[in-house]
Amino acid sequence: MTQEVIAIDGPAGSGKSTVARAVADALGWTYLDTGAMYRAITVVATRRGIDLDNASELAALAESATIALTPHVSVNGESVDDDLRTHATNVGVSVVAANEGVRRALVHQQRRWAAEQPVGTVVEGRDITTVVFPDATLKVFLTATLDERARRRGEEGAESVARRDAADASRAASPLRQADDAVVVDTTGRSVEEVVKEIIECLTSRTLN
Ligand code: CDP
Repeated sequence: MTQEVIAIDGPAGSGKSTVARAVADALGWTYLDTGAMYRAITVVATRRGIDLDNASELAALAESATIALTPHVSVNGESVDDDLRTHATNVGVSVVAANEGVRRALVHQQRRWAAEQPVGTVVEGRDITTVVFPDATLKVFLTATLDERARRRGEEGAESVARRDAADASRAASPLRQADDAVVVDTTGRSVEEVVKEIIECLTSRTLN
């Protein structure tokens, strides 16, 4: 079992990936972007012509998928990097992420992966603090205004970001929500360094207490 997990959740463009990667680097820990896993399944399902509303076929795909995230994102050895952030993937991923069977398969992979890490790991997504690692060493909920989040997402646009957030927060399966014991960090107008410093200070005070 891994010794430490920092779990980070938050809406699209709240800074999760950048912050999680930087916290992991600062601590010498590994980093897991679970959103890339949901995106990877979406890309392969689309390439295979699977109807995203076909819940059982989609779940079967996720169950048979071994997802590699570094240095390139691939599913059973098939590279999906080029299609991870297309418009079609931004739309399809909300359907894929609402599929309970897909979530079960990916959560299983995420926990297994974390257990294999030598020291600690930083994991980010939508259900990490609430479902995947409810006993994490530190739980963080990142936020930022919609304007700022849309600006960070650039080409995707505010409408798509707002639509994905609404879908993530309202779905039945593991909706995005703030865990009661999460530290809430608003990243609006703040540098990555400041946010990373705050998270590491929280970790240090948790570990000392
Ligand atoms: O980086 P960005 O905020 O654009 O999204 P992402 O982390 O790449 O996640 C893409 C989508 O995957 C989200 O909108 C969620 O629908 C889904 N997701 C999820 O349901 N659970 C996770 N643990 C991570 C992502």
